[in-house]
Amino acid sequence: MALRHFLTLNDCSPEELDQIIQRAIEMKKDLAVIRDAEPFKRHVLGMIFEKSSTRTRVSFEAGITQLGGHGMFLSSRDTQLGRGEPIADSAKVLSSMLDIIMIRTFGHDRIEEFAEHSSVPVINALTDDYHPCQLLADMQTYVEYRGSIKGKTVAWIGDGNNMCQSYMLAAKQFGFHLNIACPEGFEPKADILESLKDRITITRSPKEAVKNADLVVTDVWASMGQEEEQKQREKAFAGFQVNEALMTYANDDALFMHCLPAHRGEEISENMLEHASSVVWHEAENRLHAQKALMEFLLLAAKS
Ligand code: CP
Ligand code: NVA
Repeated sequence: MALRHFLTLNDCSPEELDQIIQRAIEMKKDLAVIRDAEPFKRHVLGMIFEKSSTRTRVSFEAGITQLGGHGMFLSSRDTQLGRGEPIADSAKVLSSMLDIIMIRTFGHDRIEEFAEHSSVPVINALTDDYHPCQLLADMQTYVEYRGSIKGKTVAWIGDGNNMCQSYMLAAKQFGFHLNIACPEGFEPKADILESLKDRITITRSPKEAVKNADLVVTDVWASMGQEEEQKQREKAFAGFQVNEALMTYANDDALFMHCLPAHRGEEISENMLEHASSVVWHEAENRLHAQKALMEFLLLAAKS
């Protein structure tokens, strides 16, 4: 049995990531075939949430159901994990009963520790540092609209957060250049930046970042867990909004993505989600397809 986890994009080779994305595109076209085949009948996905979610919860639960299995929602509010049961103990017990587990949590070290003690595949459904499942959906969306992203330029506007850091790893794994425009003090982690510096340019100017960009991406200014910093962040990020005017500096066929939920009037203008460049609704839907392909990849690896 080859136990594989998906904690960051670095857990797969570039070839495997391409394979997962191609499979996601295929699964999207063949939903009826997958439903009839029920390849993972009676397999159970544990879904541990220590933070809120709409897209991630629904796409994982719908996804495993379409594959013939069952999704079990486990909120930290109602489990012993939320009352301080050690992560290692929880991982040993839960993985003895489940076939695959996804976790949304705070510190990335929590999911690393869980995976270390799990006997089944563990998927990162967002930590403070990374959101790799979102990147599978984003890359699938780019491929569907424009073909390969290799050699292209991506502009990240805003916070150097979990989504930004996921785009940094994606720059290496998918072979694009990433321009990051963020205010001083809101950069991504220095060690991640140092290890990927050939693929990344940091600027203070959103206009500079979107120049020649094929894809423009942003995210909320205050992530989950940073709610009390909202006001201070609104000040720091003024001028870092993605809007119609900023998009005129990008390439004519540039796409716009946002993982959602979005805050209109903050990181995006009122109508940005409806802008001609916006593919956000397809991006959100692709969470379902990309994660089905990911679960298939990990479950098949575990059986091999
Ligand atoms: N993009 C995303 O992960 O959305 P949710 O927080 O709704 O899961
Ligand atoms: N950066 C955001 C992403 C939400 C999907 C957060 O962590 O809250």
